Amino acid sequence: MTARPAGNPVQERALQLGIDLARLPVHVALIMDGNGRWAQDRGLSRLAGHAEGHLALRATLVAASELGIRYLTAYGFSAENWRRPDQEVSGIMEVIANAASEETQSLIENNVRARLSGRIHEMPAEVQERLRSMEAQTSNCTGTQLILALNYGGRAEIVDAVRLAVERGLSVDEDDFRSLLYLPDVPDPELVVRTSGEVRLSNFLVWQSAYSELVIRKENWPEFGADGLLASVLEYQQRDRRFGGLSGEETERPGLL
Ligand code: IPE
Ligand code: IPE
Ligand code: MG
Repeated sequence: MTARPAGNPVQERALQLGIDLARLPVHVALIMDGNGRWAQDRGLSRLAGHAEGHLALRATLVAASELGIRYLTAYGFSAENWRRPDQEVSGIMEVIANAASEETQSLIENNVRARLSGRIHEMPAEVQERLRSMEAQTSNCTGTQLILALNYGGRAEIVDAVRLAVERGLSVDEDDFRSLLYLPDVPDPELVVRTSGEVRLSNFLVWQSAYSELVIRKENWPEFGADGLLASVLEYQQRDRRFGGLSGEETERPGLL
């Protein structure tokens, strides 16, 4: 098998680092942590950190799309983040609403489809409206899918699926259950990355990450960008994924389409 040649500068850098473009993860999921610490280190407000976090997601999305990642999930606000002071919560909501409006045109130009995962209906009306508009306007884009996990909780997602199953009187096996999750057509992430050095999932993709490779990056989220993504993919490619089988054998990959 010949190695796939680079088609753009991000792929060029990936090849230089030793990344195999034929073995990229299809779905990368990001726990974008450390905005507050990034701001604190610079004597800035936490909200300045969240605004910078938006720019970092833009840079990471561009890199992911050029690299050839099909699905990029970004954990932007957890179901537990409402516990923060009102001022921070409303500031984050404003960052999300403005980002949705500001980015829509460039998502379309870059053929990126934005999708939503979480209890979006519980978010402030104005934020919902902007998010839904971004989702609708990019719905025909066929390139990378950007999945924004907002007011998202992995346990809430499982409970929501169980409620549906009960309502419909279904008895479920694993495949049926998957079809009741928020975005059943999206394959499980092969790679979950968390920034800021924390080593926990914080209720992210609890079902879907059962066999994901976890990469912990030391930098805070605003400093991640293309370099952090490429380093994470390289680390992922150095892992030996066994799915309960033995090394080097063809094993069924649970949950991957
Ligand atoms: C992640 O950064 C963004 C959200 C959770 C909304 P944090 O705000 O958690 O930053 P730290 O962890 O306090 O540094
Ligand atoms: C996880 O970060 C949620 C997001 C990145 C959106 P948190 O900062 O909320 O997680 P904990 O509180 O450190 O577990
Ligand atoms: Mg945090």
